[in-house]
Amino acid sequence: MLLVTGGAGFIGSNFVLSSVAGTGEALVNLDKLTYAGNLRSLDPLRGDARHVFVRGDICDRALVADLLKRHRPRAIVHFAAESHVDRSIAGPAEFVQTNVTGTFCLLEEARSYFEKLSPPERERFRFLHISTDEVYGSLGPQDPAFTETTPFAPNSPYAASKAAADHLVRAYHHTYGLPTLTTNCSNNYGPHQFPEKLIPLMIRQALAGEPLPVYGDGQNVRDWLYVGDHCDAVRLVLEKGKPGETYNIGGESERANIDLVRTLCELLDRARPRSRGRYAELVTFVKDRPGHDRRYAMNIGKIRRSLGWAPRESFESGLEKTVRWYLDNIATHFARPEAA
Ligand SMILES: NC(=O)c1ccc[n+]([C@@H]2O[C@H](COP(=O)([O-])OP(=O)(O)OC[C@H]3O[C@@H](n4cnc5c(N)ncnc54)[C@H](O)[C@@H]3O)[C@@H](O)[C@H]2O)c1
Repeated sequence: MLLVTGGAGFIGSNFVLSSVAGTGEALVNLDKLTYAGNLRSLDPLRGDARHVFVRGDICDRALVADLLKRHRPRAIVHFAAESHVDRSIAGPAEFVQTNVTGTFCLLEEARSYFEKLSPPERERFRFLHISTDEVYGSLGPQDPAFTETTPFAPNSPYAASKAAADHLVRAYHHTYGLPTLTTNCSNNYGPHQFPEKLIPLMIRQALAGEPLPVYGDGQNVRDWLYVGDHCDAVRLVLEKGKPGETYNIGGESERANIDLVRTLCELLDRARPRSRGRYAELVTFVKDRPGHDRRYAMNIGKIRRSLGWAPRESFESGLEKTVRWYLDNIATHFARPEAA
């Protein structure tokens, strides 16, 4: 069985649902249920003995130790984090607490658990840390995409806290021999994302006839990956990745924010036309985020060559699926009381 952290969040819940459906392997899901966690995302697993949900904090070392002892997982898959850059600018303390201290607590308990395993169990054990492309900083328009050896240059408190966690994970492999794996992924999109992030925010605003706020000149470029493809990559790295290695994951789909928003508007125009006008008329440029990174792009050559992974969903097909999902789930997803 697996111990998954943050499995009620956006990517974590997609991972939990697709793993139970695909591999059938049981998992313990440790999640604090912050504003970003949503148990309703896991409704399809209600009453399913393969999914054990535990509400708790990754910083609670006694709880983590107890879960490891009781469930004896073959791996820890660590998604739990504070993940929103804007929130990290307004209040960085929580980011240091969960992303740095929380990862440290998990590593310490994993180390102590690992040391007590039998040799065959040790051989199999993995600690998989989910990280982001934001640790590498920002690219100019002509710069080559980030590789696994690009020096870290985090620019936001969020990115810095993730970079710190990545360094700790690396050190636990080198110092203690903990069989760690790190994945650094680009921007994800898909079902179950909290509506503070670009795509669900725009869909929610558009459907409400409210302005679509786009930062600065809208020319910030992100590399978009459908969440299902990310989850497949995580499972592959877990099974086939080499301990101590890091793997970049991305969609090879660079889009400027304004182009993404315009595409979303066109999809909505087709799927749910407004009574008058077009959704793109709602686009409003707003004051830029401080220190806003200009461009991210991932070179995914390593995971492609060594593990044979490539994204399956194109940007167009993934976005269409995503819009469909939000339209089908407006009532439940956007009506979350915390979705202010
Ligand atoms: N969303 C993206 O585009 C993206 C891209 C690359 C990497 N990542 C990384 O993937 C991971 C998941 O991202 P997401 O977008 O699903 O985040 P999210 O904010 O949607 O979910 C985070 C989950 O972690 C839980 N959590 C927060 N603090 C916790 C704590 N102290 N103890 C236990 N649980 C806690 C929350 O309740 C929530 O369910 C993060 O590590 C993030 O840095 C995200």
